[in-house]
Amino acid sequence: MVGLEIKKGIYWVGAIDWKVRNFHGHTYSTQRGTTYNSYLILDEKITLIDTVYGPFCGEFIERIRAIVDPAKIDYIIVNHLEPDHTQALPEIMKFCPRAQLFGTAKAKEGLYRHFYQDWNFKVVKSGDKISLGKRNLVFLEAPMIHWPDSMFTYCPQEEILFPNDAFGQHYASAERFDDQVDDYVVMDEAVKYYANILWPLGSVIFKKIEEVQKMNLPIQIIAPSHGIIWRKNPAKIIDAYLSWSKNETNPKAVIIYETMYGATERMARKMAEGLSDSGVLTSIFNIPKADRTEVIKEMFEAKGYLIGSSTHDNDILPNLAGFLEFLKGLKPKNRVAAAFGSYGWAGGAVKSIESIINQAGITLNQPGLGVQYNPSEADLKQCFEFGKNFAKSIK
Ligand code: FEO
Repeated sequence: MVGLEIKKGIYWVGAIDWKVRNFHGHTYSTQRGTTYNSYLILDEKITLIDTVYGPFCGEFIERIRAIVDPAKIDYIIVNHLEPDHTQALPEIMKFCPRAQLFGTAKAKEGLYRHFYQDWNFKVVKSGDKISLGKRNLVFLEAPMIHWPDSMFTYCPQEEILFPNDAFGQHYASAERFDDQVDDYVVMDEAVKYYANILWPLGSVIFKKIEEVQKMNLPIQIIAPSHGIIWRKNPAKIIDAYLSWSKNETNPKAVIIYETMYGATERMARKMAEGLSDSGVLTSIFNIPKADRTEVIKEMFEAKGYLIGSSTHDNDILPNLAGFLEFLKGLKPKNRVAAAFGSYGWAGGAVKSIESIINQAGITLNQPGLGVQYNPSEADLKQCFEFGKNFAKSIK
């Protein structure tokens, strides 16, 4: 695939990763692949905005070369130093060793700790501007969206915002624009990205979007570093981020569990019936068999969680324990939860789950329900009522 002119003299020169199924190590499942977006601006100063992940370095350089000799690159903007956007830098710099890099102070520090190169790096702050000739670029620091070094770059003449990871999605497609692809798929990937990566950073994101909105910048195009480019309606993804950053939820429930012999699973299903009977949309996930990234997306959108485990060694089963550790790191706010599970003799899982719910900052809204061995008809009726009672706090 060749580079694509997204506006006169501005080219997408990134890479499409059709095969990747795990990102950030194994913390994020990318079932639809991803892209690493880099943009080339032809002006008096030839400028590259971000680069790509190392394995795609060769095709990236060829994509640039089809448009301009890489030796002619004058400026490289480093919006974010994470390797998926910078691993191609050392190769690019071999062609243009005197190119000037621009980024935040944290990007400069971090870039050095990744590559140990003394590149010509100019530190920029919010409001700093550089001239490319006919166009300017203006920088806006965006710390913790999602690393300390992150920044946005804005081109006023073209009304394009280059926000790196913000507003992106892990979605590989032959098309580059929002108006060329299925809207449902793009928003599904955008919310999944937000939930799994940006969820704990909602207050920072909310303030940054407010700051950008107060600047009254006309924005025709948002060109993020992953997935499709927003040109049909860039306000749509900004509005979605505003809503997500406020931790707004839907009156939905998610039941997650891990079970040894099926008793905890039977409890889960009966609780789901209770919730459903109360009109609450409910999803159920057997955690060892579920895609964690998808489950987190569902939990991000839902108000309430029922969390269950069989007791093993007086504690939670290990797959659920690992999942809850990940969830705790996402610091869910404005959510309610309750615990349940089957036990053999001493019990312990319900208590442990409740402890994690508290540590995660989720509101524990009703006492947990433990059932010895296999639930009886009376126990299952109690599970149904447990679900119905839980529904009251999320409707
Ligand atoms: Fe796509 Fe934070 O890197």
